[in-house]
Amino acid sequence: MSSESGTTTLNYTLTPLAALSPGDRRLVDAAQAATATAHAPYSRFQVGATLLLADGSLHSGANFENASYGLSLCAETVAIASASSAGRLREITAIAIAAVGELEAAVTGEFIAPCGRCRQVLAEAVSICGHDIEVLMLSRDGQRVRRTTARALLPLAFGL
Ligand code: THU
Repeated sequence: MSSESGTTTLNYTLTPLAALSPGDRRLVDAAQAATATAHAPYSRFQVGATLLLADGSLHSGANFENASYGLSLCAETVAIASASSAGRLREITAIAIAAVGELEAAVTGEFIAPCGRCRQVLAEAVSICGHDIEVLMLSRDGQRVRRTTARALLPLAFGL
């Protein structure tokens, strides 16, 4: 019988908005702007997600809620499905996620992290892309960015 020792930590870096590279700032700004296109009358929590494609183009989505709450779609999933429909799934290099709204930090956490379902959706994109995807999560106040990757967010992912 083998035993494993040690701890698993989630690798990430934390950067103030003002210290981001111009490229990252552009991506983050787009995710913040995408919150304005959310359909979120039930949670009143508007989430924006923007994908960076290999040629530098951006592809945004926002959460799309439903009166039958459980049918709601997250911003990350909308953005990825939209890129897929445009035939550009393979070109994704990064995703930024931002939110504004009424949910408390106790509910959302300090950073706007993808939910478990969206992590699995991201894993599908990683599988199709053949490379990992950078994930930039805005803080609730929109002033800091926590950076990690899709693979790091879903260890032992099904399908990867
Ligand atoms: N939401 C997202 O859009 N992305 C996530 O990763 C977490 C949650 C949305 C779903 C719902 O419309 C609202 O945020 C509140 O949960």
